[in-house]
Amino acid sequence: MSHGFPASFQWGVATSAYQIEGAVAEDGRTPSIWDTFCRVPGAIDGGDNGDVACDHYHRMPADVALIKSLGVDTYRFSVSWPRVQPGGRGPVNPAGLAFYDRLTDELLGAGLNPWVTLYHWDLPQELEDAGGWPARDTAYRFADYAMLVFDKLSDRVDAWTTLNEPWCSAWLGYFEGVHAPGRRSFDDAIAAVHHLLLGHGLATQRMRAAATRDHTFGITLNMGQADPATDSPLDVAAARRADGMGTRIYLDPLHKGAYPADVVADLAARGTSLPIRDGDLDIISTPLDVLGVNFYFGQDFSGTSPAGSETDEAGRPVVREVPIPDRPRTAMGWPVTPERFTKLLVRLHRDYPGLPLIVTENGAAFDDPPPADGTVADLDRLDYLRTHIAAVADARAQGADVRGYFAWSLMDNFEWAYGYAKRFGIVHVDYETQQRTLKQSAQWYRDLISRSR
Ligand code: FCB
Repeated sequence: MSHGFPASFQWGVATSAYQIEGAVAEDGRTPSIWDTFCRVPGAIDGGDNGDVACDHYHRMPADVALIKSLGVDTYRFSVSWPRVQPGGRGPVNPAGLAFYDRLTDELLGAGLNPWVTLYHWDLPQELEDAGGWPARDTAYRFADYAMLVFDKLSDRVDAWTTLNEPWCSAWLGYFEGVHAPGRRSFDDAIAAVHHLLLGHGLATQRMRAAATRDHTFGITLNMGQADPATDSPLDVAAARRADGMGTRIYLDPLHKGAYPADVVADLAARGTSLPIRDGDLDIISTPLDVLGVNFYFGQDFSGTSPAGSETDEAGRPVVREVPIPDRPRTAMGWPVTPERFTKLLVRLHRDYPGLPLIVTENGAAFDDPPPADGTVADLDRLDYLRTHIAAVADARAQGADVRGYFAWSLMDNFEWAYGYAKRFGIVHVDYETQQRTLKQSAQWYRDLISRSR
């Protein structure tokens, strides 16, 4: 035991398919909603897209060697649905699936534990054309696709995450329209929430039924720890609403088999409801072995507008994020709040008992200095990782059952609507040459891991 972490604690690095692979039209892959969205003028900073990204599809063995050099236990990657099942339905594409087969073998050969995420936002475009996540059928298509991957890799892969951050898929993709597919409909977003959860449940049930040995099945949620800006009843109510729509609308059905009554009432007040059918909640609440937690920053909420009003133009209660005072900010403008990370983990342990936790993403974008002397002096990122890993140790000391930590991200990559402008990597990528350079944060992380053994 060192720094409060037992030898069994899993240290890792994480990526996702569209953000690093490139090779978007190779070996039978068809477009996902992100390929399409990147073509919408103005959707992505700099007009960037994932066509080449980190060229990981062609550099995978060298990248696995890079991961091994960090001394981590595990690598979290995602599988590209349109690579494995072009168009999102029908038979498997053996050439596409073969990439993940080779990646799995390469990882195992390097002594690394593969941690698979089945869906990190790259829905096949044809399924969006047929209605996307607001359409119930997409949940069934997802479970079919999950089984194609599970059949091939489950003899070697233990850890399976169904969805990454369904809040982003539903909210950013279908309500705010800043992520693919770029729709702006509250009702579509709410339908997407339910069908994402249904897809998770269907896939988990089918994988578990087909398993011939022990696996770890989970889902990853992004949670910000929504706090009231003051203890006024209005701010407390705003934080409750934000927490309901951000966290409890996912975790309550997953862990307790019911949507939270206050969220259902809030939706009814907006004239909307979740499209629940008989039996859905039994499927969604199929037991989880682990909850993946992605944490970047905490948020404070106010229940009044800047002008002091309690309702917005549509007469709805104000839920306004307000700056947390006196915090450094990352290049994303996100406040640095490690103590909220501890608070979130302890709260999850208290409110959802018996659910082991694993940090599937944590990290930060900063405007790093350029590479010099064979490294990058990314001291802000190093400090972010140091204080947030300490926050995990604090949560563990308070009883939270946190079993591992993945740094986001292994390397700089395509940061969605921000394109390549925002760098989250602990490894620097030169996009002209595709050269990888360990930043000081990567060296520090490697040393921390080796000391904790
Ligand atoms: C998370 C995503 C991940 C990355 C980080 C910065 O929401 O899961 O792909 O973009 O944010």
